[in-house]
Parts: sequence; C-alpha cells; structure tokens
Amino acid sequence: TVLVVDFGAQYAQLIARRIREAGVYSEIVSSEVPAEEILARKPAAIVLSGGPSSVYAPEAPTVDPMLFESGVPAFGICYGFQAMAASLGGTVARTGDREYGGTPLTVTTRARLFGDLPLEQNVWMSHGDAVSAAPPGFTVTATSTGAPVAAFEDVDRRLAGVQFHPEVRHTAHGQTVLEHFLFEIAGLEATWTMANVVEEQVEQIRAQVGDRRALCALSGGVDSAVAAALVQRAIGDRLTCVYVDHGLMREGETEQIERDFVAVTGADLRVVDAREQFLSALAGVSDPEEKRKIIGREFIRVFEQAALDVVSDAKSHGETVDFLVQGTLYPDVVESGGGSGTANIKSHHNVGGLPEDLTFTLVEPLRTLFKDEVRQVGLQLGLPETLVWRQPFPGPGLGIRIVGEVTQERLDVLRKADAIVRAELSAAGLDREIWQCPVVLLADVRSVGVQGDGRTYGHPIVLRPVSSEDAMTADWTRLPYDVLARISTRITNEVEEVNRVTLDVTSKPPGTIEWE
Ligand code: XMP
Repeated sequence: TVLVVDFGAQYAQLIARRIREAGVYSEIVSSEVPAEEILARKPAAIVLSGGPSSVYAPEAPTVDPMLFESGVPAFGICYGFQAMAASLGGTVARTGDREYGGTPLTVTTRARLFGDLPLEQNVWMSHGDAVSAAPPGFTVTATSTGAPVAAFEDVDRRLAGVQFHPEVRHTAHGQTVLEHFLFEIAGLEATWTMANVVEEQVEQIRAQVGDRRALCALSGGVDSAVAAALVQRAIGDRLTCVYVDHGLMREGETEQIERDFVAVTGADLRVVDAREQFLSALAGVSDPEEKRKIIGREFIRVFEQAALDVVSDAKSHGETVDFLVQGTLYPDVVESGGGSGTANIKSHHNVGGLPEDLTFTLVEPLRTLFKDEVRQVGLQLGLPETLVWRQPFPGPGLGIRIVGEVTQERLDVLRKADAIVRAELSAAGLDREIWQCPVVLLADVRSVGVQGDGRTYGHPIVLRPVSSEDAMTADWTRLPYDVLARISTRITNEVEEVNRVTLDVTSKPPGTIEWE
C-alpha cells in the first residue's frame, strides 16, 4: 500500500486514484496521524500531498523527519515537496509570489523522474512559497519561473518531489512522472488489478459472512448493483436482494434490474411493486422537500416490511439474516474520517432509519474503491454496460423532475421524453462527456403551440445537460445543435402532451443540477 498523507488539499483523493491507475494500491491518511502510526502500517511508499498552507504559517501541518529517515520511499507534491525540503535541510523561500495554473517547466536533469520526457513541458502549479535550495544529497531536476527548484530526487534514499501537481490532467506528463517515482525510484510493481480486487473481496466476504445470510437493497444504481453482484459471487443464494419499485424510475430501468441483473448474477431478487403506494402518498404534493420526505419515508416503510419478510422466511428454515450489504465507496469512508478499519460511516440514505429490532452487520465490499474502480469491477463481474456506466440519478427519481404534483399521467409523459433524450445522447456518443442530463417536465406550466392545423396548449420539457467532476459545481454542456434539434423534433412529434423543448443554460452555482 502506498499511503497518501493528506495535508488538507482537495487533491489527496486524486493522487490516490492516479497511483491506483498506475496499478499500485493506495490509501489516504490524514497528516494528523503520527509518523509512528503511518510507518506501523508498513507502507510501500509515502506520498505527501499538496496543502493550503505556507510551511511557515504557525498552524502549518508539519512533517515528522522520521518519515524520511525510515527508509520508506517518499514523494512530495507541492506543499509536501516544500515540507520535505524544509525538513531535510533545504531552503524554502517565503516569496509569497503566487504561481498559479498552467506553467512552463524546464527539465534541467533527465534523471529518473523525467526519464525521456521532453525538456520543456506544461505543468499545473499552485503555490506561494518556493524551494530555493534543495537539501543535501538531492539532485535538482527541473525549474520554472516561480520555482527555482521545481523538482528534485535522491535516488539512493528513494526520495523525490515536485512543486507542480502531477495528479491533475492539466499537467501534460503528470501520470508518467508519478509512475517514474513509483517504479523507477520506489521500485514498486503494478499488481493492483480489478480481477485481483474481485478475488480478494470474494474471499473477504466469505470470511465475514460464513454460512449465514445477507440482505441487499438494490436501488437501480451502479454501487448497490456491483456490491450485490460481488456478494452474490461470494455466497450465492444466501444473499437476498430487494428492489423497491417506486414507479419513479426511468423507462427500462426496473426491467434492467429484474431481468438483466438477475440473468447475469443469478441473484435471488424480490421486486416489491409499491407504485400505487408511492403515488397515493405523493398525491396533491408539489413542494420539492415535501416530496423528498415522502419518498424517503415510503421507501423505508416498504423496505422494512420486505426485510422483515426475508428475515421471517429464513427463520422458518432455521436460519438468520445477519448482514446488510451496502455500496459504500472509498470517498465516503475518507470523508467521514475513516481511512481504514472500523471507522464510522455515514449511513446510506436509502437504508438509514431501519428500526432497532432489525439490526444487521454491514457488508461493504466497495469500501476501498473509487467510483471508476467500481465500474471496472462491475464489468469484470459481467454486469451490462448500460448499468455499469449509468449516470448519477437521484434517489427520489422522476418525482423531483416533475415541477408540480406527481401523477401517473405526468410520469408517463416525462418517461417518454426522457427515453428519447437518453437514446439520442447515446446515439451521438455523448454519454461519457455528460455528467448527467436531467429531463424536467414543467407540469404546472402551459404554453401555446401549433401542430398540424391546430393550436395546442401543452407542457414544456427542459433539458439540463451538465458537465461536472463531482456534482458540487457544474457547467451546462454545450451539446451540438443537430443533436438538440433531433431531440426537440422527436419529443414534440412523439410525446403528444409536450409542445416545447427548452435548454437550461445555467451553471451550478447559481443553479443546482436538478430543478427541485
Ligand atoms: P443538485 O440538484 O443539488 O444535485 O445540484 C447534485 C447531485 O445530487 C443528485 N441529487 C440527489 N440524489 N437524492 C439523491 O440521491 C436527492 O434528493 C437528490 N437531489 C439531487 C443530483 O442528481 C446530482 O447528481
């Protein structure tokens, strides 16, 4: 394991992901974890991340020199690079001059880090102070206008560092530099593959669950499907999956779970048809938060009943259901403060709130994985591409994409329009470029149109294609006009109740991704 020491920058997760992309398993530890503890985990290498502070700031996180004296290979990035320099006897100048964004870098020595890479390259910088003299024993390998020492390495001690951010895509050869550290300096080998992950997880799940039974709520999304498929592979039909059909899914999604997921995994699936129950609970409600509350509450009610049924069926065979499978991902683990082991995890919104007499031990086979890795595991397990590459879709589903009251008729209209949008975006090969594209029905708005010889008085549909990295911020995607034109023509021709298609050109902020 390569440990990425997080100095509080948003880059630590990205660094860990890039290391894993290189085929080396990597986890994140907070910089507040004492050096002894970090070393006790026997890391194959340590990477010090960037951070917001100046190494001279009084509250600046420090690096225990012990980390560098331990003989463990170490790589410093940005703040971590400066901290490494300061701690080993180099000089960090308090220039305070910021170098920010794309910056030309000159390689002065083609040693291990840069290998055969071009002498002039573009890198992403973000720093105030700069290293002005490397510590004794280090070779300076690159320089930039704002950073006299922009990279250094000491091959004997297996230490190196860079002022720029190799983990961001704007750094042209960042991944290669990172790999040069891992393979040429630290001497590691690329052994982290998704096939190995599947094998390891299957073994771990078997060890945890033994010959007892587990339960899993499938949401229709990637995470729960992959988690369930892994557990299914480990314990077979001692896993029971429950899928609550709340009637707010898009066209074909429930069938995908009912048919395709079961066909591939052979899972024991119980589909609970709760469509009527959700519709009647939502009757007369237009307020978005009220809708969310109702949908969440009904979900828990239905799932709870299903779980009780599964438990009592097992009991009648003299068995117990002790485990609940959840699709918790590594970023959730990191964000809730648990780098490894038994940390407290924020409960998945779909299954929080189960009553106390229904207690389960969690099985979380995706706890160490990033989203892109979960998708690879899904493919490895043979899940359909459409499911594995499914874009984010909110738990409350189409319920919060009908502005106004949710009714069966409105759901049918929206489902038709949404299916057209998804089909056309896929046909245009845009699925991977778009983060997600909510299709919204303005059910309480009517507008006048003309179709054939007649005046129409229908509803507008809003297209909300967005590009994003993490849904925290987003920009509206500049879809090609011809794709928009096809979508518009098809919707107004094929969905009778809709006579107008509009495009949302608001970024987030100020807009949110969803309309409700
Ligand atoms: P907003 O609309 O807040 O959405 O910009 C950010 C991301 O979260 C999704 N979203 C939800 N997901 N329950 C969910 O599970 C919800 O109530 C919910 N509301 C928004 C949204 O699709 C986007 O990916």
